[in-house]
Formats: sequence, C-alpha cells, structure tokens
Amino acid sequence: MKNDDLSSSVLSETTPSSTKKEDATTRLWQGVVKRRSFLKGLGVAGAAVSAGALFTGESEGQSSTSLTKGDVAILQFLSAAEIIESDLWLQYTELGGTQDSEESGVNGGSPLYMQALQILDGDMPQYIHDNTDDEISHFEFINAYLISKGADPVNLDQFRTLPSSKATGARDLGRLTNLMNLTVDTSFWTRYRIGTENPDLDPTFVFPQADTIVNRTAIPRTDDDLVGPAKIAPHNIPDHLKAIAFTAGFHFAFIEQGGTSLYPSLAQRVRNVEVLRILLSIGPTETAHFQTWHDKAGNALALTDVDPVTGATVTFKNLITNQPESLQSNLIMPEPTDFLSHKFPACSIIRPTRTKGAAMGAARALTADGLFIGQSSDFFTALHTLAEAADAAVRGF
Ligand SMILES: [Fe+2]
Ligand SMILES: [Fe+2]
Repeated sequence: MKNDDLSSSVLSETTPSSTKKEDATTRLWQGVVKRRSFLKGLGVAGAAVSAGALFTGESEGQSSTSLTKGDVAILQFLSAAEIIESDLWLQYTELGGTQDSEESGVNGGSPLYMQALQILDGDMPQYIHDNTDDEISHFEFINAYLISKGADPVNLDQFRTLPSSKATGARDLGRLTNLMNLTVDTSFWTRYRIGTENPDLDPTFVFPQADTIVNRTAIPRTDDDLVGPAKIAPHNIPDHLKAIAFTAGFHFAFIEQGGTSLYPSLAQRVRNVEVLRILLSIGPTETAHFQTWHDKAGNALALTDVDPVTGATVTFKNLITNQPESLQSNLIMPEPTDFLSHKFPACSIIRPTRTKGAAMGAARALTADGLFIGQSSDFFTALHTLAEAADAAVRGF
C-alpha cells in the first residue's frame, strides 16, 4: 500500500462536505452511543437527543469556523495517541481493573494480579478502570470534534493485530499494543526530582532511571505467570507476579507523564482558541493520572525476579527509605527547576514542553517502550505520517 493510501485509510473520511459531515457525525455518534450503551448502559434515545445539541451549534464565545490544516493534524495525532492509550489501558483493566459492566471488565479479571497491584495501593483496580474510561473518552471526543468540523477522524482498527494475553480474565481480541515485552523508561522519576536540570534546557543530560526495566511483561501472559515462589510477603502472591505488577505500576506513570508533556508541547502550535481549549482541558487530566501513578509506583517492594520465559532480570529498589532526593518516593511534587532560561528563578513545571518535534518524539518514546513490538511496517508508516503532519503545524497558519 502506498503511504497516501495508508494515511487516507487511517483517516476515515477523505472528502468531507457539509452533508457528508452531518452523516459522518451521526454515524460516529451512533457508534459512540452504541459503545457507551454497551459500556455504561446509557439509553440510546437519550444520548441521540444530545448529539444534535453537541454538533450543530457554536460553543461558548467561539464561532463555528473550519479548522486550519495544522490544528486538524494536531488533533488527529492526539486522537491516534489516545486510541493507542485506550488499547493498552483496556488490556490492563481486563486483568487488573475493577470488574464491572462500565468497562469491558466483566470476565472477573485476574484476581491474583489485582492483589499484586494492590501492594502498590488498595485502590489500584479502581484507578486502572477509571484511567481506561478517561482514555476512551479522549479519543471519542476528539474524533467527534474533528467530524463536527468537517475533518477526518482517526481509526486504527486495521492495526489491531497483536495477540491478547492468554491469562484467565483477558479477552481474546486483536490488539494495537504489546504489554508483554516492555522496556520502561523510568527517567521521569529523577527528571521531576532533580532541580538543577531541565530536559528542554539541558538536552544532553541523562536523567538516571529509578529502576531498570528491560523486556519485561506488565501483565500475566498466561496463568503460568500466576505461580511461583514468594520469598517476601505477601506470601500468597508469587514474587514473579509482584514483579509483573510493579512493572505495570511504573509503566502507568511512564505512559501518563508522556501525555502530561505532549498536550502542552502541541498546544503551543494550535491556532484556534477552541482547539486550544481542548488541549488545555484534556492535558491536565493526563497530569492527574501521572501524579496518581507516580505516587503509587513508589510503593514497590525491593525485589529481584528472573522471567522464566525470557530470562530477563528486573530488580526493584525500596524507594521509600534511605534514598537520595533524586529517588525518594514521596517527593512526587515537581521539584522547581530552571525554565525557559537559566537566568530565571527555578519554577515548578511540567517538563519537557518543547514543541519542536513533540509528536514524533512521543511516537518514538512509545516505540522504544516496546509497545509496538510485532506491529506491521504499515502501522509505523501511519503513525509517523500523523506525527509528521502534527509537527509540521505552525502556530498562526
Ligand atoms: Fe488520554
Ligand atoms: Fe493518558
């Protein structure tokens, strides 16, 4: 398939007109209603009534103008990123989230995996469930908004080709992402604790990892991952499964700190004030997620595990006691650091937020994470095409 063909198949609508826009909006909204009906038990009629109100009028203080090419490209990349997030969070919630009919977690999950996650915090299953719900709402909203403006929504369904976990609790679906061979970059841990360096001002500084997590699974791959010795308490949970849960704990924070930086980075090149409002309203929810996960990951127990399938070893430190400030678990508030220039006083900020190449940077970080191991070259072409378009957006044009 040629790149052009690929990008138009990823972007679901190619020649929008006002009639087509209306049809597409209705179709998408019906899809949303269907999904939400399934997920939340919403009445279709009630939701359909609100669809007209949502997409026909002007929003507060903002005329209903068409968007610039750059704004569309930024929203499309964010939609793709949110679809990817939704895919990985759905895998987590099937196994580790609160099991209710709101999400797909109606299979009972993996009770022992949930218990392992609860070493980090008793509320982990609820948080996983709710983070999943938030990501789904993000891409559904952005796609619906794009359609309402006559632009193409993003659909990555053709790339849902990766295998599901075979562990009890997981559904057998094609997936976009792979959670079973992750290399989790935990440098966010020290980046938010070290006040003398800012990745935007000091791009060559290497922030140390909190723990080194290479080629590890963050979910039980089969029920074999639920068995094994437990040298440390709680003794009903195998140490191997504890290590899987702790990998997930750091991965949650890695994913959400990425969103925390991505939204402000891209917002700097948005033109339309309403699109800016979207980025400024979704972005901080990523930060809310990050802050939660950042706090919980620090509760991991000191533990070394050798994966019986891959042979990959991981060691988690006790970050609660006897650690320098760059690692100390309860220092989760962003340490003030230099911002914009070393000449200004230190400021507590999200970092990085440089805008140049931000979309491709996010795509690269997700790829380095191992999330796309097994994906086709067409998938990478599609993702890179969307990222390049977003990074070509220039504020004011
Ligand atoms: Fe999101
Ligand atoms: Fe997120």
